[in-house]
Amino acid sequence: MPKPLHLIVACAENRVIGRERKLPWHLPEDLKYFHDATAGQICVLGRICYETWPRANTEGRRPIVLTSHSLIENRNAGENAPIVADSLTAALTAAEELPGEIYICGGERIYGETLALAGMRALRLHLTLIHSDVPGDTFFPEWRHLAWQELSRRESADSKYRYTFLTLALPSPR
Ligand SMILES: NC(=O)c1ccc[n+]([C@@H]2O[C@H](COP(=O)([O-])OP(=O)(O)OC[C@H]3O[C@@H](n4cnc5c(N)ncnc54)[C@H](OP(=O)(O)O)[C@@H]3O)[C@@H](O)[C@H]2O)c1
Repeated sequence: MPKPLHLIVACAENRVIGRERKLPWHLPEDLKYFHDATAGQICVLGRICYETWPRANTEGRRPIVLTSHSLIENRNAGENAPIVADSLTAALTAAEELPGEIYICGGERIYGETLALAGMRALRLHLTLIHSDVPGDTFFPEWRHLAWQELSRRESADSKYRYTFLTLALPSPR
């Protein structure tokens, strides 16, 4: 059986995840959750996410960067140097050969292509749902129509937002 795919995302009620190449909010609790979950794991992510996330190669993360180009910024990260892939299929093939869980870290197209694997691959969705409509230019694909099983839920808030940490699962294919 291939490894399950862990999608990890913070998403507003209107499905916004980004604005002008940045996160549209500053939620330290969620950032810590994201960094703790992905430390030591394989992180599949798009070129923009890689370029804007300096910690992609730190704390044992092994980034697999999706790009149509063969060269990306080299951070001299030693054994955590990025692997470059030109498709999600190529990225997942490379990820199967590496130790660790596979975390899908965005952005929009990669999340969409991964969710399209529902029914073919076991999926886990680590979703921080921010209970607001937030202006933005990058979106998480609609996920609510899929038959998720809720594994965990924790409510939280800061001075600006209420948000819920959810872990959802789609059963493994037969
Ligand atoms: N809230 C969250 O949890 C969260 C998570 C992730 C990202 N974000 C936000 O989302 C935004 C960045 O995401 P984004 O969607 O704009 O960009 P992205 O996915 O990080 O990068 C897009 C680039 O990745 C490459 N790419 C994507 N899919 C590919 C595929 N299937 N095959 C080959 N190459 C592929 C292409 O690179 P080339 O142009 O080099 O070919 C494409 O231009 C930022 O605002 C960020 O803060 C938020």
